Amino acid sequence: MKPRVLQAGRFLPPTEAILAAEFDLHPLWREADTAAFLAKHGGEFVGLATTGMVGADAALMAALPSLKVIASRGVGFDKVDLDAAKRQGIVVSNTPGVLTDCVADLAFTMVLTAARNICTADRFVRRGDWQRGRFPMSTRVSGKRLGILGLGRIGRTVAKRASGFDMEIRYYDVQKIADVPYVYEPSLVELARWTDFLVITAAGGPSTRHMVSAEVIAALGPDGFLINAARGTIVDQAALVDALVNKRLAGAGLDVFEDEPNVPAALVELDNVVLLPHVASSTNETFKAMEDLVLENLRSYFRAGKLVTPIF
Ligand code: 8YV
Repeated sequence: MKPRVLQAGRFLPPTEAILAAEFDLHPLWREADTAAFLAKHGGEFVGLATTGMVGADAALMAALPSLKVIASRGVGFDKVDLDAAKRQGIVVSNTPGVLTDCVADLAFTMVLTAARNICTADRFVRRGDWQRGRFPMSTRVSGKRLGILGLGRIGRTVAKRASGFDMEIRYYDVQKIADVPYVYEPSLVELARWTDFLVITAAGGPSTRHMVSAEVIAALGPDGFLINAARGTIVDQAALVDALVNKRLAGAGLDVFEDEPNVPAALVELDNVVLLPHVASSTNETFKAMEDLVLENLRSYFRAGKLVTPIF
């Protein structure tokens, strides 16, 4: 008998076809009244395939009393209630590693795009403004200072990209990391004061909430750029908007926001911000690799009782 698996959130069509073929799958996203469906059928499911953005909260887990395994697409697991999973004896996997390059690529793309004002320049050409005059000067990237908040796999890969642009690199993390050639800055405020570009590649969740505070943003200053390819919750978004609107920050590249898909209206009006719809890992290659890993985790759990990339 195939294991009964609930699918929260959408996957790529080929992955949904494989999920439906290999498991006794039910797509929860198709249900108009999910509460009524779960009240009737919740006890049937032993597996949950979900996504980083949909996650799995304590209420969903409580509605699935037979649940044994959650396989989530994405490296971030801030939307999965790990305490609730532990309490219910549910094991959880994410998809680390396979998205590192694409997320680092996009983070560095935002460094270049924000500094060189690429989106505004593109709009300038499309509007026909080039016929009327010269586009204003922008900011050099090569040889500048890059500060990284969170030197995990993705942060280190951003550092590699930045090294190719002859940038000076420092980082902040909970502690100094032994095997890296970059200078450790034990104060995030000091890192912000030192750097030209502050790139966020830390994990989300309560421990990093609003870590990039009004004080950090002030330290980055009117010539500094903030780049966020991690989670919107890490930044005090109201303070960021205020600094950008009042030109107390040179610019920002944002792929993530506090309340996605809602973006503060004030940001939409600004030319010094690059606004992206959480697409850092959204390439065909990387989404396929992440979803293959979701499938491998489910297969391995139901075949051998072990996850391939467990959180626990
Ligand atoms: C995705 C992400 O957008 O991996 C993460 O933490 O934020 C992204 O890869 C999404 O979570 C994938 O489901």
